[in-house]
Amino acid sequence: IDNGSAKANHHYKDKIISGLPRDERWLSIFDCYQYQGFWYYPGHLEGVMSAQEHFVANPTDVIISNAPKTGSTWIKALTFAIATRSKYNSSNSPLLTSLPHYCMPALEVISSLKFPITQSLEIPLFATHIPYDSLPKSVLSSRCKIIYICREPKDVLVSLWYHMKRHARKDKASLSLQEAFELFCEGVSVFGPYWDHILGYWKASMESPQRILFLKYEDLKKDAHFYVQKIADFMGYPFSLNEEKKGAVQEIVDLCSFENLSNLEVNKTGKHHVSGSNIVDNSAFFRKGEVGDWKNHLTPEMAERIDKITEQKLGRFGLEF
Ligand code: A3P
Repeated sequence: IDNGSAKANHHYKDKIISGLPRDERWLSIFDCYQYQGFWYYPGHLEGVMSAQEHFVANPTDVIISNAPKTGSTWIKALTFAIATRSKYNSSNSPLLTSLPHYCMPALEVISSLKFPITQSLEIPLFATHIPYDSLPKSVLSSRCKIIYICREPKDVLVSLWYHMKRHARKDKASLSLQEAFELFCEGVSVFGPYWDHILGYWKASMESPQRILFLKYEDLKKDAHFYVQKIADFMGYPFSLNEEKKGAVQEIVDLCSFENLSNLEVNKTGKHHVSGSNIVDNSAFFRKGEVGDWKNHLTPEMAERIDKITEQKLGRFGLEF
């Protein structure tokens, strides 16, 4: 789109957004707006609407999807390393000098769609947090592949709470974990309700497992080697026997490990432009990287309430954590 129509489009979307249900209880620098059943920051929402109007997927694209704080940094690093392994290795990968988020464009971040790096790949990679039912129509009609990762809800809440504290309004005390917990359970969280986000992709993956690979953070933590192979097979870019013998799978696991990535200079000191004026330190994407950290934060009552919601919303569809 040219500059003039981009501006007109921006005002048009601004107008739509200002008429949507709004929630400011996260006390974040941005309020959340509800659109098609999910909550968004305005910058992301404008990107979602734009992607819905303009994004054209190709059948060879691979879309990496998830809700925030469920392992996007990790899965982006892994899929990027898998797709670029004939070009780069663990001593010259762009992952050594760029936050994984910079290695592929995000559908809802308009400016990122110009990133050249993954467009030149045989398997073009895109990332998104857009819920399944709100994906641009062409993602569904092109039948391109989708890799979805989710994570145990209690750990997501804790991770999200820490992350959101970095977005807190300067004039207000940041939200307590108890308050964040209430909002999360109510479904008011960026790209939430979290359980609905999972459910959309879970149902779609049950219907079309060859099109949607559904992964859990905890499984990857248990056996990253196995899942790197599985992801590569799914992407249509399997490891040859020779590669396996030479340790190519393990090399990717090690390159993308929390220990390795979180200790790189770029991820310790760099900054990430999320969208618009939303800038976060790269280090915000690397906190602990563990399973079960919720035990250090939530009371048994809080844990029980979240588990109940998980059981009600997902258990009956055969999904458990
Ligand atoms: P914690 O806050 O529990 O530590 P996202 O990337 O979707 O924003 O999710 C961030 C979460 O993934 C954070 O969890 C972060 O520490 C963890 N993470 C980031 N890189 C990782 C990696 N390479 N391996 C495992 N976990 C990682």
